[in-house]
Amino acid sequence: MCGIVGYIGNREIKSRLIEGLRELEYRGYDSAGIAVMREGRIESFKAVGKLSNLEEKTKDFSTKGPGLGIGHTRWATHGKPTELNAHPHMGEYSYVVHNGIIENYREIKEMLEKRGITFLSQTDTEVIVHLFELEAERYEDLFLAFKATIEQLDGAYAVLLITQKAPDTIFFARKGSPMIIGRSGSGEIFFASSDAPLIGEADEVAYMDDGTVGFVTSETLHAEPDSLCFVPLQGDKMTAQKGGYRFFMEKEIYEQYEVMSDTMIGRVLDEDIAFEEIDDAFVDGITRIKICACGTSYHAALTSSYLFERLSKIPVNVEIASEFRYKEPLLTDDTLFIVISQSGETADTLEALRMAKEAGLKTLAVCNVDNSSIVRMADATILTRAGIEKGVASTKAFATQVMVLWMLSLYFAKRRRSMEHDAIKDELRFMSYVPKVLQKSLEVHEKCKRLSKRYLHGHGFFFIGRDIFYPLALEGALKLKEISYLHAEGYPAGEMKHGPIALADAELFTIALMPKTLLYEKTKSNVEELSARDSTILSISPEMFDLADDFILTHPHNHPMLEFFEMMIVEQLLSMEIAIRLGNDVDMPRNLAKSVTVE
Ligand code: F6R
Repeated sequence: MCGIVGYIGNREIKSRLIEGLRELEYRGYDSAGIAVMREGRIESFKAVGKLSNLEEKTKDFSTKGPGLGIGHTRWATHGKPTELNAHPHMGEYSYVVHNGIIENYREIKEMLEKRGITFLSQTDTEVIVHLFELEAERYEDLFLAFKATIEQLDGAYAVLLITQKAPDTIFFARKGSPMIIGRSGSGEIFFASSDAPLIGEADEVAYMDDGTVGFVTSETLHAEPDSLCFVPLQGDKMTAQKGGYRFFMEKEIYEQYEVMSDTMIGRVLDEDIAFEEIDDAFVDGITRIKICACGTSYHAALTSSYLFERLSKIPVNVEIASEFRYKEPLLTDDTLFIVISQSGETADTLEALRMAKEAGLKTLAVCNVDNSSIVRMADATILTRAGIEKGVASTKAFATQVMVLWMLSLYFAKRRRSMEHDAIKDELRFMSYVPKVLQKSLEVHEKCKRLSKRYLHGHGFFFIGRDIFYPLALEGALKLKEISYLHAEGYPAGEMKHGPIALADAELFTIALMPKTLLYEKTKSNVEELSARDSTILSISPEMFDLADDFILTHPHNHPMLEFFEMMIVEQLLSMEIAIRLGNDVDMPRNLAKSVTVE
């Protein structure tokens, strides 16, 4: 979703802003813009489409010496992706960039229009800059004018504003949308919507609390409330780059066996699961679990519902966050409310969490981004430790979510005594094999590349599986449709005969997940039913299957979760190779955003 950057310092401003925005490209955007203060005057540039268009437009523009600027990548919400709607939005002498949604913008706009102000864009954002200039007529102190502006906004926002009346200052405010401020040893100031643009630039950063409003110059930093707490910024630029892979998605698929070890370290012990983040008291009195999430994170949740019920014997109910929030759910205080989110900023999941908190439930987040809004709101968080995920289509974040949830189900099993000690030990042993299995699974990449050429057409894909392989089928279908733009659906294998089988013919591709350790014969009969109707079958299994047109042979394992993780890699690689052959940008698929901060 939209990205914000800001910079104060001595280096060339335009390049700093565009480089910062490039680091935020993974969030998804359809236009971009910058506003730069040069000799007390602001110059602004905007372009629809990729950042290269903005670069082309600004190729003859540069700055020398100290200065400042703000930049933005926009993912359209109010108004089409046009240049006029792109940020920064301007008033008479000020410019603003904004992430989030101003819910009461219509009322403010009407009031401003009555005062003769003309609007150029269809956005909610534009009201901020005009309101500020109106307040600046009332208050001599521009910070007071900015504060008065922010106080009138309802909704979610991260805002940066610059004005020719204070050419050395950036005004900032944050509520509900993420924003980080960073500074370097040489006195430069940076703003960004996530860590990525700051890595290698800022030495320390402060994650702004909701409700923060302030201003900064190269000499002064003022924030209200005075809660900015600077901490050293970890990570280096290289890890955030592609490292020789064609796409971030590919790199992230290949990283999975390493990040999985990080996810497990200090947590998967010989005889127990240990989470620093929660203790026995946290799960005391819990007799049921409710999980809310969206998209891929929802698929991780659904997978875990089988694990929780099977291993911990605790009833689990899983809901899509956008459905949950409007259904007037019945919540009881013996329920542990878990939210799962890669970004920690998904608006629907955040709202579901807020509702659970308001109902007095214990809440737990499984999240990949520390200090994100969801992490801040939940009572406790287990971080998935997948590292920055840049590909819009989630891969390693999903893998680590499933792992954390599997660990959590064992954690509950031990505390609820639902499994024998030796059975827990066995499960832990299998768990410890996962990184190796993930590494070995990558051997199938060449086969996926070769097979992909046969799957570029047809009228649809069905990914089918049973038990935990059903959510994995859903995830396979989502991965494929996100990046290939081909129609794909995930289905429980046993459900096909209740309707979807009517679609079966040679142009319907069935991707059959056929693990040997779980319901093999049952799944096989469902695949036979499809094969009898001439559907083209690609079977993913450790066992050859006569009736399949194609097969990807997986390694034999003796635990369903090991088969699960291997098949997950096959799905990811296959989808990626199909999308690459179709000429798509797999890291930034059309219409999608990495961080979905609107409902
Ligand atoms: C798909 C994908 C999305 C996200 C969904 C929720 O590859 O990434 O479906 O899973 O938008 O996002 P998070 O996990 O950040 O809450």
